[in-house]
Amino acid sequence: VFRAAVIGAGKISEEHLGFLGHSAVARPVAVCDLSPALAQYAVERFGVEQAFTSHREMLERVRPDVVHVLTPPHTHCAIVEDCLSAGAHVIVEKPIAPTNLEFRRLWRSAQRAGVLLLEDHNYKFNDAFLAVRSAVEAGRIGDVEEVDVRVALPIYGGRYADANLPHPSHRLPGGVLHEYLTHMAYMALAFLPRVDRVEAIWSRYHPEALSRFDDLHALVVGGTVHARLRFSARTSPHAVALAVRGSRGWIETDIYHPYVRLVTPRGAGPLSPWLNQLENGYALMRWSVVNLRDKLLYRKTYHGLHRLLQRAYSALAGDGESPVSFEDMDRATSLIDRLVQAQGQPA
Ligand SMILES: NC(=O)c1ccc[n+]([C@@H]2O[C@H](COP(=O)([O-])OP(=O)(O)OC[C@H]3O[C@@H](n4cnc5c(N)ncnc54)[C@H](O)[C@@H]3O)[C@@H](O)[C@H]2O)c1
Repeated sequence: VFRAAVIGAGKISEEHLGFLGHSAVARPVAVCDLSPALAQYAVERFGVEQAFTSHREMLERVRPDVVHVLTPPHTHCAIVEDCLSAGAHVIVEKPIAPTNLEFRRLWRSAQRAGVLLLEDHNYKFNDAFLAVRSAVEAGRIGDVEEVDVRVALPIYGGRYADANLPHPSHRLPGGVLHEYLTHMAYMALAFLPRVDRVEAIWSRYHPEALSRFDDLHALVVGGTVHARLRFSARTSPHAVALAVRGSRGWIETDIYHPYVRLVTPRGAGPLSPWLNQLENGYALMRWSVVNLRDKLLYRKTYHGLHRLLQRAYSALAGDGESPVSFEDMDRATSLIDRLVQAQGQPA
């Protein structure tokens, strides 16, 4: 059983601590937050053994095997370095680092320390994403030609809009959108063989948005495959949508409101479109039942994160590969660099 510690006891820590609290392979031995109240809350809510307000003191006194770094993005590099120096394996929330260069530095430190380092690419382990991926890999849509990743999230209200307590992610190279670039990058890259060209239009439409940008429309071309990455704060409902189009058909899903729609020739000649509609109509009804069940059972969009953590701990125990490889993180951070480099002046 691995002795696990958590640094940062905010929103996403509930998922990591929820996993650790029920895990047969890990035990939550310590939690650290600058806020003593939040750290103490984690102790009481998730049965963590000790609370700290300094991560260095925690590393020194507890010597955890694994540390989950769940602090705001701009703090990740320094904290991850400290954990690696203490000889701990590190699972860090996205984005692992603001640039590819900084990610590679962390990777070298992890290699030197002989420990695992992985960034959370959770949506890649959600049921809906896995269903799309396995249909594509099974050749159901033929050769992949286009990928469409669309994130629709309002950033004008709530935590990103508080002028008295500005969110730290406003400081990232892509502003608060940077928080979502990792999800967009790893979802698109799962279907892109390589990246040759990147073009991006970054905009700021809302006059009162605190972020430098609130809208992104990017094109990424690798070989003959074209990907579109879109972040919109102005469309509804909230979505993290993915569509993959191929030489024979296409498939789409939405991580937030899961379903899978698959359109292929079906081999029924002129009746194929009708057959597609019939099968997809039936599939949509099935997904509506599954989604209602998930709502009632509080099974959230974070089920992919729990699956990723399970695989990470299995890899640590010598059973299987790390669920997120060096190449996965390297490609995602490089693509994000290129998206950021494509920034002009906000409109
Ligand atoms: N994978 C996902 O789907 C997902 C979802 C939400 C957030 N995240 C990521 O998780 C990270 C945290 O996000 P959040 O929404 O939980 O933020 P949050 O603001 O709710 O929590 C961050 C916590 O870190 C604490 N903190 C900051 N600096 C610290 C330090 N030096 N030592 C100890 N504690 C410190 C803060 O006090 C705060 O309680 C971000 O990188 C974010 O992008 C990922």
